[in-house]
Amino acid sequence: MRYAAITGWGMYVPQQILTNADLERMVDTSDEWIVTRTGIRERRIGAPHESTSTMGAEAARIAIKRAGISPLDIDLIIVATASPDKPIPSTACFLQSLLSASRAGAVDINAACSGFIYGLGMASSLIRCGAFNTVLLVGAEMLSRYVNWKDRNTCVLFGDAAGAVVLQPADSQTGVLTFDLGAIPETHDLLKVDAGGSRCPASHETVERGEHYIRMEGKEVFKHAVRAMGDSSLKVLHEAGLTSDQIKLLIPHQANLRIIEATAKRVEMSMDRVFVNIDKYGNTSAATIPVALCEAYDQGLFSDGDYLLLTAFGGGLTWGSAVIRWGTS
Ligand SMILES: CC(C)(COP(=O)(O)OP(=O)(O)OC[C@H]1O[C@@H](n2cnc3c(N)ncnc32)[C@H](O)[C@@H]1OP(=O)(O)O)[C@@H](O)C(=O)NCCC(=O)NCCS
Repeated sequence: MRYAAITGWGMYVPQQILTNADLERMVDTSDEWIVTRTGIRERRIGAPHESTSTMGAEAARIAIKRAGISPLDIDLIIVATASPDKPIPSTACFLQSLLSASRAGAVDINAACSGFIYGLGMASSLIRCGAFNTVLLVGAEMLSRYVNWKDRNTCVLFGDAAGAVVLQPADSQTGVLTFDLGAIPETHDLLKVDAGGSRCPASHETVERGEHYIRMEGKEVFKHAVRAMGDSSLKVLHEAGLTSDQIKLLIPHQANLRIIEATAKRVEMSMDRVFVNIDKYGNTSAATIPVALCEAYDQGLFSDGDYLLLTAFGGGLTWGSAVIRWGTS
């Protein structure tokens, strides 16, 4: 039996820090409101010369080095992002050039904040069926370029970051063991960018109306997120034949500390086994999980043979969860 192990991992966050105190000077908000409602204290903002692909490349170089491979070994690059460099070509194509991974196919996927888990499901399946040997999966977002910095409902929430993993075949039962992907019908309007696509091409009028910015019905998204992340987590645990007490660490999407706490409660895991870094980075969408994975590993929170539960939720509305057994053997 062929499995898909994570053999390399890396992360990148831009240097510039935007604190809640900085935001107090930009919109009608307060550190107290942001911390108690979301758990966020600061977030990173990309420099003018940076973009989603350049951040993704920084994270990918670390992952490639750790895997001990050359960029030329990569068969496929998948970039999960909702904030691409451009509509055409894909951010993955920019990344392919930045990495000189000239043998690799390159494709973007957009499942918003669930994108990395969708990518894990696809990448691991492509490896397990024998189609590819080495897949680079990147979750990268520069949401600061899609946020209306005058809209306090959204601008306090998001940040920029990138995380990457390399997936390769393994003979023993390791890597991505089970995954679950889904989407809730008729919820398209809860989290969206209205203009700039085929439904509503960009025009002077759409820009004047601010329709190129992210808009969100936070309360509604919150309710769906709590339900879907809990249900989906329980499903992948069941399919893996595991119970939550066998999970070393829950790595949830970092959108809101209250969503994370509710998810932990649902799967009956205490918060000391749940990774949280939302205070430092805010919601970096498809990048939250690979960034959290890297930081949790560096903090020694899991090691070879440990089971990890990953779960995410995002625009669409979409959800995704996975159970991983860490290590390559
Ligand atoms: C956005 C979110 C933090 C709002 O928290 P909430 O407890 O639901 O707050 P509400 O939306 O009910 O807003 C409460 C009040 O705070 C106000 N408010 C909103 N943003 C604010 C801010 N940054 N500062 C101060 N007040 C703010 C609202 O206007 C509202 O005022 P009102 O009662 O006078 O109308 C929360 O719903 C959330 O995190 N949702 C998930 C969002 C997400 O991360 N989605 C991404 C994909 S997972």
